[in-house]
Amino acid sequence: MFRTDLLKSKRILITGGGTGLGKGMAQRFLQLGAMVYICGRRQEVLKDTEAELARLTGGIIHSMPCDVRKVETVEAMIESIWRDGPLDIVVNNAAGNFLARSEELSPRAFAAVVGIVLMGTIYVTTACGRRWLMTGHAGTVLNITTTYASTGSAYVVPSAVAKAGVEALTRSLAVEWGNRGIRSNAIAPGPIPTEGAFSRLLPGRDMEKMAMQRNPLGRFGTLEELANLAAFLVSDGSAYINGEVIVMDGGEWLQGAGEFSHLGRLLTEKQWAALKPRKVPGL
Ligand code: HXC
Ligand code: NAP
Repeated sequence: MFRTDLLKSKRILITGGGTGLGKGMAQRFLQLGAMVYICGRRQEVLKDTEAELARLTGGIIHSMPCDVRKVETVEAMIESIWRDGPLDIVVNNAAGNFLARSEELSPRAFAAVVGIVLMGTIYVTTACGRRWLMTGHAGTVLNITTTYASTGSAYVVPSAVAKAGVEALTRSLAVEWGNRGIRSNAIAPGPIPTEGAFSRLLPGRDMEKMAMQRNPLGRFGTLEELANLAAFLVSDGSAYINGEVIVMDGGEWLQGAGEFSHLGRLLTEKQWAALKPRKVPGL
């Protein structure tokens, strides 16, 4: 799909890059010539991913443990990366989420998710942004949100409010920093099978099946599809795209929003036939 040097000499940090979608993007960026940094809380997971992706792609990848909820730890990580040279791109992908009824959530439960998703994204983005602005270095921010950031969703309220904040941050900084060489965009994916997301949000075959049937394309998205869109959005080929949230969900959220969309699964042939116009005698 792309030239293999699309991201040559680009230095990219992916938060939460040790697993799932972050790992998928790391692999694709390495294949396209980038130097990649990944971070997360679990050092052994990061080390395994680092070794696996280096072996698979032959690219240069570094991992650093970092809890993005802790501003001092984020500052230390960014400072240590900058000592080797400035980043060109940051992908805010780290997240926390779970299904729960909102009235049963403790303040710490809200803080756990909002801390990772919103505050983590703010800490990482401003740490990079300040350095880019100070030196006049061009930068690109790509945030990974989700389709319910714009609609809201029951039972994942901490995540929904935090992701909505990330989308507001994306659009705000696109304008505030755009004229100084920093682009900000986001991808809002629908369901893509990963252990982290599916074990928490679609546990069990029945829930998976229901989610798949809801999708107009009748399937989930893939890591490759997400990674290719991300590669395009962080590349210079998309230099005029700024402040956008690109939905990648097979049309799922529109299916959920359309008043009559469910009829395709509900009505029988006989019922469709009954809806056809009747011949009126004399007309
Ligand atoms: C209610 C819960 C809870 C649950 C935790 N808490 N899980 N409350 N229901 N299922 C509460 C705890 O009781 C505690 O509050 C507080 O949250 C903090 O919990 P900890 O376990 O101490 O937090 P921590 O170890 O920091 O873990 C954070 C986490 C965890 C978010 C809770 O799930 C995590 O580490 N997630 C990272 C990976 C992840 O979530 N990936 C999925 C991303 S998918 P109290 O008051 O008891 O102390 C995604 C979008 C998918 O984002 C969209 C699909 C379509
Ligand atoms: P995942 O594998 O659970 O990824 C989450 C990553 O974030 C993990 O690597 C985790 O590593 C890291 N992380 C969590 N808390 C952190 C913290 N405090 N500091 C640093 N890193 C932290 O799930 P995923 O499906 O790939 O999700 C990736 C992104 O896609 C998330 O933003 C998610 O909201 C979004 N998304 C996913 C889907 C989907 O269907 N998969 C759909 C829409 C949006 P550690 O636990 O080691 O810290």
